[in-house]
Amino acid sequence: MSTAQGLHLEVTDLVAGYVPDVPILRGMHLQVHTGEIVTVLGPNGAGKSTLIKAIAGLVPAQSGAIRVRGDNILGLPTHRLVGAGVAYVPQVDNIFTRLSVQENLEIGGMAAPRELPQRIAEMYALFPDLARLRQLAAGKLSGGQRQMVAVARALMARPHLIMLDEPSAGLSPKLTEMVFQKLLEVRALGVTVLVVEQNAKAALAISDRGYVLAEGQQRFTGTARELLSSPEVGELYLGTRTRLAA
Ligand SMILES: Nc1ncnc2c1ncn2[C@@H]1O[C@H](COP(=O)(O)OP(=O)(O)OP(=O)(O)O)[C@@H](O)[C@H]1O
Ligand SMILES: [Mg+2]
Repeated sequence: MSTAQGLHLEVTDLVAGYVPDVPILRGMHLQVHTGEIVTVLGPNGAGKSTLIKAIAGLVPAQSGAIRVRGDNILGLPTHRLVGAGVAYVPQVDNIFTRLSVQENLEIGGMAAPRELPQRIAEMYALFPDLARLRQLAAGKLSGGQRQMVAVARALMARPHLIMLDEPSAGLSPKLTEMVFQKLLEVRALGVTVLVVEQNAKAALAISDRGYVLAEGQQRFTGTARELLSSPEVGELYLGTRTRLAA
């Protein structure tokens, strides 16, 4: 299943942006090993969403490489990536609000129609609240429940790698905790997890390693414990814009 050394996702010297001559990622490096939970931190505008979108094939790359289990996926269209086992849960608009919970799950699993009942049952086992709410329009759910639908929908494609962009955005500390605890359960299913977060403490608490991204490049990397105790990370988070604007 895994490649040599268990390297699952490898981003090498990635230059990417929305407009050809305006790179947002300026030589980004990142590695995720099979079975890890890795968090990408960084201030607003650092390029966190751009990184995850570039990996998902939604932002064009000018140079560099993105390897998933050894294969360079740079330039692959998003639907091919989903087929290749890479799932992406966007920061916003990550569910169909007018469709029911169950319909959202069905869409997530539409590539394997015959397996739908089995996969849906697995998702309801993982997220028991959703089983209860299955007929309800997803737009009527609470923020935490919506995040669960978004994660479950992504998992319906049976990915080996899931990437989540700020899953705790807008959630209370209690719901944030619940979402991150669920990510531990997702990892226990054999899924490697890359998560982008503003909420450094809560995300690192469940992560193996982390990266701090600033101005489109890696600022620091280390184990979750190293990042949690690093004065620089604290400073970056408390000082953010003023420090980075210099
Ligand atoms: N669709 C877009 N078109 C052009 N530029 C964009 C687009 N989306 C983001 N940018 C620019 O890319 C840079 C990085 O944005 P990005 O959304 O990746 O940051 P982020 O680290 O995810 O920030 P946040 O914490 O606010 O979500 C910013 O300067 C932003 O203005
Ligand atoms: Mg973002």
